[in-house]
Amino acid sequence: MLRDALLALGGSSLARRIATDAPFSRSIARRFVAGETPQEAIEAARVLNRSGMHVSLDYLGEAVASAEEALSAAATIERVVRDVASESLDANVSVKLTQLGQDIGGAFLGRAVGQLLDAAEECGVFIRFDMESTDYTQRTLDFFEECWNAGRRGIGVVLQSYLYRTEKDVAWANALGARVRLCKGAYKEPESVAYPDKEDVDANFVRCMRALLADGNHPGIATHDEAMIRATKRFARDEDIDRDRFEFQMLYGVRRDVQQRLVAEGYHVRIYVPFGEAWYPYFMRRMAERPANLFFVVDSLVRESPLGFLRGGSRDARRRAS
Ligand code: FDA
Repeated sequence: MLRDALLALGGSSLARRIATDAPFSRSIARRFVAGETPQEAIEAARVLNRSGMHVSLDYLGEAVASAEEALSAAATIERVVRDVASESLDANVSVKLTQLGQDIGGAFLGRAVGQLLDAAEECGVFIRFDMESTDYTQRTLDFFEECWNAGRRGIGVVLQSYLYRTEKDVAWANALGARVRLCKGAYKEPESVAYPDKEDVDANFVRCMRALLADGNHPGIATHDEAMIRATKRFARDEDIDRDRFEFQMLYGVRRDVQQRLVAEGYHVRIYVPFGEAWYPYFMRRMAERPANLFFVVDSLVRESPLGFLRGGSRDARRRAS
């Protein structure tokens, strides 16, 4: 129920306005968002690369309604692609198609993304299409296939294990030879399309992970769930699948202990680094995934308020959020 309330707040434009105007909420969001500018994201990528991690940069934004906004987002992302290449960063770029005009129309999207993919190909930078709510699943996969059939190969897609359809989509992607990021799924979906229970989402995650590791093209196993991570390591070991044939992916600021441990064990780990001014819906989805993160927010509020003397008592909350 708390998850639903947080996801609903994430979609409220009034709550978004209040939160994004408040300086304290900005500083709290910094835990999960690398900054508001491309330069801050590039700097975060440099630091992560130095600690042995690959990166995927994400310019935050979604559900853009005007052509002007979509083109401006595409221009920022293209600049990031060029910065990644000129700085020789070990980073790719994730995009949301609704940020690039998916709701405006197929022809517009084709032009905006086409231009971006041309620049990415020229720079040798891989582009991942993030997956959004089920209003967009089929359209996103169709668009991906269109790009693939046009000869684009530096692209990948995301599939979500909470959807009943995903095993079939994994088989489709494997048949194409397309690179997939597998995640559980972050949106509020009805029971008619998505498993309501975590144990079914997890069981489907394991089935899809196995199919991707066995027959896929360098899959990204995107989770912070230690049970899913253990299942992936075990399957790779039992099937003699080399660590270079897949990667783990995790979100910036989430389970940094696990990120570092996996790198130390010799696994490839890619960190998804979001940046930009439109951080509010992304931040609320992170809160919804783990309501214990609210303790981290409350803790930060206390520390930044005149009630700072309560600080000692809030140390526990900080530990729980890390
Ligand atoms: P789960 O939610 O079951 O959590 C397992 C454990 O992980 C928790 O008990 C906690 O310890 C830790 N954890 C999880 N989330 C946390 C958080 N926010 N803060 C602190 N700890 C946390 N979704 C989507 O719909 N479309 C997409 O394109 C993407 N892209 C994407 C990229 C990458 C690299 C990642 C890691 C995730 C996504 N997601 C996504 C989000 C994904 O669908 C999912 O919502 C989150 O990863 C949380 O699910 P977990 O698999 O981590 O497990």
